[in-house]
Amino acid sequence: MKITVIGTGYVGLVTGTCFSEMGNNVYCIDIDNGKIECLKKGIIPLYEPGLEELVLKNQSKGDLIFTNNLKDGLDNSNICFIAVGTPMGEDGSANLQYVLDVAKDIGKLASHDMIVVNKSTVPVGTADKVKATIMQELEQRNLKLNIEVVSNPEFLKEGSAVEDFMRPDRVVIGTGNEIVIGILKELYSPFTSNHERFITMDVRSAEMTKYAANTMLATRISFMNEIANICEKVGADINNVRKGIGSDKRIGYNFLYAGCGYGGSCFPKDVKALIKIAANNGYDANILKEVEALNNQQKLTLVRKIVDKFGENLSGLTFGIWGLSFKPETDDMREAPSVVTINKLCELGAKVRAYDPQAMDIAEKYYFKDNKQVEYAENKYDALDKTHALLLLTEWKEFRSPDFEEMSKRMINRLIFDGRNQYNKETLREIGFEYHQIGNGY
Ligand code: UGA
Repeated sequence: MKITVIGTGYVGLVTGTCFSEMGNNVYCIDIDNGKIECLKKGIIPLYEPGLEELVLKNQSKGDLIFTNNLKDGLDNSNICFIAVGTPMGEDGSANLQYVLDVAKDIGKLASHDMIVVNKSTVPVGTADKVKATIMQELEQRNLKLNIEVVSNPEFLKEGSAVEDFMRPDRVVIGTGNEIVIGILKELYSPFTSNHERFITMDVRSAEMTKYAANTMLATRISFMNEIANICEKVGADINNVRKGIGSDKRIGYNFLYAGCGYGGSCFPKDVKALIKIAANNGYDANILKEVEALNNQQKLTLVRKIVDKFGENLSGLTFGIWGLSFKPETDDMREAPSVVTINKLCELGAKVRAYDPQAMDIAEKYYFKDNKQVEYAENKYDALDKTHALLLLTEWKEFRSPDFEEMSKRMINRLIFDGRNQYNKETLREIGFEYHQIGNGY
């Protein structure tokens, strides 16, 4: 099939690349010329395992074309995916400006019937707005075309985006049009070997499904963080409690890890947006408000433990930081717990020496620019030189089994504050470390 994908962020680039890998002809469009020029040269603007290889392969076959010329893309395709950002507006609602700008452009440039598929996360009712915008532009051109606007929310995770796209748990398509369903079913058939994974519904329910999925997962995390906080008070261990409850099939083990808070470009934004969508429709989303409040509090949980230990004035102390990205296998630091944690430590007078396998450039350029209290280390052990404690903030695999002897030699104190519960408390105590976890009060 011939496809256009508008937007070359995580979702757009992965979508376009994976469709081209299955033999479709894909035009990837972006208004950012710099980005398109880089992609044309095979330079991928983000770190995502497996993506670069697939981009280069399909680009050289001619199946994946990067351009800023939307007309070219639209003229050469019948399906157009919208995958542009919906950043958070000042009031917490999703900003639809980019999506509606794209709709306008499609209306101005389309020359034949098309299926327009919205992959961006958008409030319920946006598909109708997109359709109205396109139709308005077509009317001005005195052009009568059949344009079907469909919702197809994306559920891929950063760090395993290619894998998630290639083997999705489900593909959700929101439209009442049977012909469109048939075409998209064929497009997705290489990815959905099991047809139960292809789920069709009305367009508004599809839009709502995306918010419901992300806010359910965020709620699960905040719930576990709350249980962890109670565990600390009553002398229980969240690691054991997780095993105990996860064994119930209705609960399951996945996404049940307490920690120093969720981050990323999706959960914080989508929780806020759904609170706003609800409010705009006369409903007070109390559970979601608490999910958000608890997460904001949780991001500072390690700092609170440090203050309990050292007091409010941290000047003269240096803390080693392992992990800056919001989760492993990405260089993305949006809403990462590391940002609030490090800023707070600096505010209390401390210095930090940070190490992350991927995110240090971004940290230095965008998050701690000109902050003289933040240094960066070449490797995880250098980050510990003459430090008073280690804070583990992101569970990269290379932090899983470190050489504790080496760590002891580098550090002033054998002291670890672990925001991701990576080590065994007893073992660390035996080798002389003071070890603080999340939710382990025993
Ligand atoms: C999330 C969803 O998982 C995807 O399904 C969705 O498509 C995506 O948002 C999106 O809307 O585009 P992502 O933001 O890449 O994906 O990250 P996750 O792997 O879901 O992790 C989010 C945060 O939750 C991370 O900060 C992680 O550390 C935290 N987390 C995750 C926990 O604290 N505990 C857990 O048990 C799991």
